Amino acid sequence: MSTLQNDLLLKVLNGEQTSRPPVWMMRQAGRYLPEYMKLREKYGFFERCQTPELACEITLQPIDIVGVDAAILFSDILVVPQAMGLEVQLIESKGPVLPDPIKTAADMNRIRVPDVNETLQYVFDAIQLIKKELNGRVPLIGFAGAPWTILCYMVQGKGSKTFDEAKAFCYTQPELAHQLLQMITDTTIAYLKAQVKAGADTVQVFDSWGGLLGKDDFEHISLQYIRQIVAALKDEVPVIVFAKGAWHSLESMAATGAKGLGIDWCIPAHLARQFAGDNVVLQGNFDPAKLLSPIPVIKKEVKAMLDAFGNKAHIANLGHGILPNVPVDHAKAFVDTVKEYTS
Ligand code: CP3
Repeated sequence: MSTLQNDLLLKVLNGEQTSRPPVWMMRQAGRYLPEYMKLREKYGFFERCQTPELACEITLQPIDIVGVDAAILFSDILVVPQAMGLEVQLIESKGPVLPDPIKTAADMNRIRVPDVNETLQYVFDAIQLIKKELNGRVPLIGFAGAPWTILCYMVQGKGSKTFDEAKAFCYTQPELAHQLLQMITDTTIAYLKAQVKAGADTVQVFDSWGGLLGKDDFEHISLQYIRQIVAALKDEVPVIVFAKGAWHSLESMAATGAKGLGIDWCIPAHLARQFAGDNVVLQGNFDPAKLLSPIPVIKKEVKAMLDAFGNKAHIANLGHGILPNVPVDHAKAFVDTVKEYTS
């Protein structure tokens, strides 16, 4: 099927048994790597995203340095609101800032469902370059944010622990909120389809703030839009859905037709399996902060995680993004322990 030298990830997503689980790390291209920090001194964040040569170089860093089984495109979920017409800034130590967020019906006139080939072509150029430079070493994961998580930033205008303003927007102006969620969904479907056309082997939908919603709200505000995205993509590539904290909806997420479901460290493997059923791959779920432990502790804990999943329909990963203060040899210890594992 594929000409990849290492297709462990795709095999597991397609339901095949492999001798060990594939391993990659969410946010594996980033600030814990000195090689990334060097480029960060010279170029702004969106300059790095928009320059295919830089995006390619950063995407490949963790393949060469840490030895993961998959590459994930270097970009950001916030390029979508940018393409829809909102200004997005990345401010050091503050994170993302959207100076003119969506608050009212009038604000909706400032955004649109864009032609992704006009606004996000640089991403597709980067994917083509990455595929060429990877030369079949490992598969490439494309990605986008889930509509609810994107709405969080478009409405709140910045990071938040609660995203209370985004929630208030949904509760006080539901029609507007659903109009916005549908616009983000339509953009995201076109965006992910174009990523696949450019060469992405699989795509992951990040619903980082899905866990802020209770089960009914999650269905109504988040999952019904994720469902549309999975339906539109699933016949082209395997889709992985990571809705952090939304353990209560693993069963309904599995029913979308997603091949993989990301889980965080707050749910044990056996419960996640019980909730999700047997027809889906589980991805996770090492606590990223545990990578700050001494290396022997990391090795022991990674083995315990692998034992808990039993190398059955499992992709080894963290339960959320790697932290910037993790030493590179600790990240390598995580990856090496998976690679040495025999069940
Ligand atoms: O995983 C990868 O290595 C690929 C690249 C990637 C980035 N962001 C690069 C990035 C991916 C997949 C993302 C996804 C993303 N972006 C999410 C979903 C995943 C998650 O962690 O929950 C979210 C919520 C964002 C929004 C975002 N972008 C935030 C909140 C921040 C600032 C905080 C932080 O983690 O740094 C960013 C900036 C960002 N995106 C950086 C990187 C490498 C750091 C930029 C820098 O300081 O150099």
